[in-house]
Formats: sequence, structure tokens, C-alpha cells
Amino acid sequence: ALQFFMCHICCSRLRCPPLRLPPVFVLLSLQDAFEVLAENYEFSEMEGPCLAFRRAASVLKSLPSAVESLRAAQDLPCLGEHTKAVMEEILRCGRSFEVEKILSDERFQTLKLFTSVFGVGPKTAEKWHRRGLRSFSEVLAEPSIHLNRMQQSGFLHYGDISRAVSKAEARAVGNIIDEAVRAITPDAMLTLTGGFRRGKEFGHDVDLIVTAAEPGREQNLLSEIIDSLKKQGILLFCEYQASTFDTTKLPSHRFEAMDHFAKCFLILRLEGSRVDEGLHSAEGDSRNWRAVRVDLVSPPADHFAFTLLGWTGSRQFERDLRRFARLERRMLLDNHALFDKTKKEFLTATTEKDIFDHLGLEYIEPWQRNA
Ligand code: CTP
Ligand code: MN
Ligand code: MN
Ligand code: MN
Repeated sequence: ALQFFMCHICCSRLRCPPLRLPPVFVLLSLQDAFEVLAENYEFSEMEGPCLAFRRAASVLKSLPSAVESLRAAQDLPCLGEHTKAVMEEILRCGRSFEVEKILSDERFQTLKLFTSVFGVGPKTAEKWHRRGLRSFSEVLAEPSIHLNRMQQSGFLHYGDISRAVSKAEARAVGNIIDEAVRAITPDAMLTLTGGFRRGKEFGHDVDLIVTAAEPGREQNLLSEIIDSLKKQGILLFCEYQASTFDTTKLPSHRFEAMDHFAKCFLILRLEGSRVDEGLHSAEGDSRNWRAVRVDLVSPPADHFAFTLLGWTGSRQFERDLRRFARLERRMLLDNHALFDKTKKEFLTATTEKDIFDHLGLEYIEPWQRNA
């Protein structure tokens, strides 16, 4: 039987393996507390306060040392009343009533559990919760629930894909895709992006960009890569989305808007990556492979720099950069393009540095983008 426990220790965006522990309150760094509050607002679809707490967590992260006194907290930028109140409470008593209430809230725990499944977002989680479902086994036993393909794979590979991916595993995945690409065409290029490009040691997936040497030549690339992975017998799941990119469309105002380039969300079987499963292992499980989530995106070559900048993240960094472009430069930036509203024209770029130049910013190294 499937049985999972909520992890109350790390409620970060990066999903850790569910810990088999009773609910305990071993919090609380300020950052963790803010992340819990942000996530709770996200579940209630209150974007304003959610982003306010995410920004606050990001401000704390950017500091050279942890905030330990109310005095130090007073001078920080970007913090609203609510944020300051929570901060004060934690600095005074080492805990926050509001955060603890959320962590022990049955609805929060259930939504957190459900959204930890690949393919299950806040809306679906909410729907299942409203129907009185509280655990994976209840969801899986409910005859009236139809799981889509992504969710089916999410449950099937839950243990593996909720376990962090290491840098070495990311490299191994990169090599597999690279070999597939080189067998298809000699002039395509593969670039590692996402958290690993920012220098992170662990991630929840592997993000890769694949481009051809000339615009237009990337067209069948992803489908051919997918075919190759299928033939190798290592494709456990694939959702392919064809390009809907339109060069005349202005960059989106909304950050969470769709990415229009051809892309696919995969689960790959990575051989020789035996995980020491410790607490989480099923008895007698001695397989020599693990499932890994992989994202591939394939922009035309002349838009590569925007895709690289957009997919390198972090999400908070991208949000801040787009906001800066819009408010300080009257420019619209997204994963596809940069548009100057004053000159009413698109600005071209072949490197990330070109984009920072257009924005009048010094180049920011990927490892400095962990906002
Ligand atoms: N992204 C995007 N459009 C998507 C998916 C992702 O623009 N359809 C961007 C996100 O904005 C993010 C980057 O791609 O900046 C990487 O996304 P993700 O893999 O979710 O996050 P990471 O920073 O790589 O973190 P993790 O280590 O958890 O994978
Ligand atoms: Mn956790
Ligand atoms: Mn990633
Ligand atoms: Mn990703």
C-alpha cells in the first residue's frame, strides 16, 4: 500500500523525499517560514501576498548573514507589515503561531501532499480535497477520478522523481541526450540550463535547451530525440508540445504565461544510478536504475539567448528582471524576446550579455541568479 508522510521540516520549493516522521515543528528559519506562508497563499490563489512572501524570502537569501535581531530586520527593503510582524514574532520567540497553524492545518498538509505529484497542480489538489480525499491511496481507490497520463506517471514514479537529482545524474542525462542529438545532426547544440546552470548541487529535474545552427532547422529536432529515446527503451513518459511561437507577438506581461517554443516534459530511465533508499526503500527493491524528470526546449537559433536567460531562472530572479525591464526601462522581456516600448521595436541578442546590455545592466553570472 502507498503510504506517505508530509515533511514538516523542509517546505522549500525543492521537494525532499517524504520523511517518515511524526509532524514536528523543528522550524523555523525566517526563509522557511516565509515559504510556508507563500505556499499557503498560493493554495488559496492569492497571488499578491504569495509573491510578497516569496520576495521577502528572496531578500533574506541575498543577505551576507542571517537576520538575528529586530534592529537588523528594520532596515530591510521590500517588506510589508504582515511580513514584518511574522519576522518579529520569530525573532522574539523562535516560532510563529501563524506558520505553525498552517503547518498543522489538515487542508494545507493535504494540498502539499497532492501537489507533490508530477502533473497535479493546486486546482486539482483542491478538487480532490473538496471531495474528501486525504491520501494517495484514497485518490487511487476513488473510481470517479480520472487521472491524466502525466498524473498516472507521477504516481507510478513518485518515489524516484520526488527524490533530488544530483549533479552527476544531471551530467549523465545530458550525455544521453547529447549522444541522441549528435546521431541526428552534427550541427545541433545542447545547453544545460535551470538550477544546475546556476551551480546548484541538486535539482528536481534536468533542464536542457537544444538548438540547430540556423533558425528553422530546429523544427523536427525534439521529435527525433524523442524517437531515439523511445528506441533505446528509456522513455518512461513524454508530453510533447509543438511550437506556437509567433515572432510578431509582444513579450507577455504575465510571468507565469506559457512558453511558446517547442518543448517536452519527460521522465527518463537512468541506468546505473542506484539510489541508497534508506528509510524510503520498499523491501527487496534492488533495481539498478532510477526515473529522472527532464525538460527539453527547442527555440530557433536567433531566440536562443532569450530562452537561455529565461530557463536559467531562478523564478524569482526572472520575475525581478522582467519587473525591472518593465518599470525601469519600459521594455518587455520574456523567454522569447525583448521589446522596447519607447522605440516600439524588438531588440535582438545572440548572447545573454547582449540582453543585459540592452537593459543597461552589468552581466549577472548564473550562480548569482539564485534569488
Ligand atoms: N520555465 C519556463 N517555462 C516553463 C518551465 C520552466 O520559463 N514551462 C523556467 C522557469 O521560470 C525557471 C526555469 O525554467 O526559471 C527552470 O525551471 P525549474 O526546472 O522549475 O526550476 P529550477 O530553477 O531548475 O529548480 P529545480 O532545481 O527545482 O529544477
Ligand atoms: Mn519536504
Ligand atoms: Mn530545473
Ligand atoms: Mn524544469
